[in-house]
Amino acid sequence: MRVLVAGATGVIGHPLVGALRARGHEVSALVRQESRQRVPEAVEVVVADALDREAVLAAVSAARPEVVVHQMTALRLLGEDPVAAFALTARLRTEGTAHLIEAARAAGARRLVAQSIAFAAAPAGQPVLDEDAPLYVDAPDPGWAATVGAVAELERLVSDSGLAGAVLRYGTLYGPGTSYARDGGGAQAVLAGQLPLPGDGAGITSFLHVDDAVQAAVAAVESEATGVFHVTDDDPAPAAQWLPHYAHTLGAPPPRTIPADLAPRLLGWFMAHQLTAAHGAANDRARTALGWKPLHPSWRDGLGEE
Ligand SMILES: NC(=O)c1ccc[n+]([C@@H]2O[C@H](COP(=O)([O-])OP(=O)(O)OC[C@H]3O[C@@H](n4cnc5c(N)ncnc54)[C@H](OP(=O)(O)O)[C@@H]3O)[C@@H](O)[C@H]2O)c1
Repeated sequence: MRVLVAGATGVIGHPLVGALRARGHEVSALVRQESRQRVPEAVEVVVADALDREAVLAAVSAARPEVVVHQMTALRLLGEDPVAAFALTARLRTEGTAHLIEAARAAGARRLVAQSIAFAAAPAGQPVLDEDAPLYVDAPDPGWAATVGAVAELERLVSDSGLAGAVLRYGTLYGPGTSYARDGGGAQAVLAGQLPLPGDGAGITSFLHVDDAVQAAVAAVESEATGVFHVTDDDPAPAAQWLPHYAHTLGAPPPRTIPADLAPRLLGWFMAHQLTAAHGAANDRARTALGWKPLHPSWRDGLGEE
């Protein structure tokens, strides 16, 4: 099939291009002018900033894809400018998605696969939630409420697009290039003793190895299934389990504990929420509908090792 990958220089997008080509697909990459040299070799390139509607329309029309894959975020900026990283990522999820959908339809594409997140649910109900659980659009932190609002808008746009749409809600990514990699920001924080365990560490994280994110995107490109899918490993775990394990694997001292009510001030609202209150995400629907299953079923066998 002819597949256009937007975000082809990213932690997921770059290996995804290779994985799709290995399956025999004709892949083109939508990239910004300044990022052309980071595209995998031997791939057709079309140039556009996703926030520039006219440029996206022209680029997608030139690529003539059957399937469009949206793997764009600005989260690479998180270390240097978190406010810009979240604001731009929200725009890529709303305006960027709308531009891609308009362009995909105009170019005659029939399918869209878009990246979302599996940790945007409101912390209510079962400890591990399915895709029908309400999103935390009314989170008490305005920044997180805005992020979740943009996620909800992306999912609505895909659902109403008139294309066969699949939204992949990725779990917390680990593996090469991610913040949990040994050289990533999360690992550096743990090694420096800057990621303590608040309260009883009951917040649940559903992790996902970056290779499994790539394989789920390949499965979604090749599937006819539509809807929203949690793409997470099989082992949702509370912070009280994964954080000490991660520290040990990194060779860091065990995380100290702090009172839960100090966590938002010390760690920021989102990390405090993730470590104390978040619920996990069940992957049954992706397994059944996409025929995908994680090759890394548990973070216990790899988090912090690469
Ligand atoms: N999902 C999560 O679990 C989560 C949460 C927080 C942090 N993170 C971290 O974020 C990264 C996630 O990987 P990812 O593949 O989603 O992100 P990524 O590696 O930052 O890739 C994002 C892609 O979007 C493209 N892009 C950004 N702005 C664009 C624009 N205006 N127009 C066109 N393309 C644009 C980038 O291209 P350029 O090369 O031009 O920039 C890049 O190809 C990991 O490092 C992960 O640890 C992930």
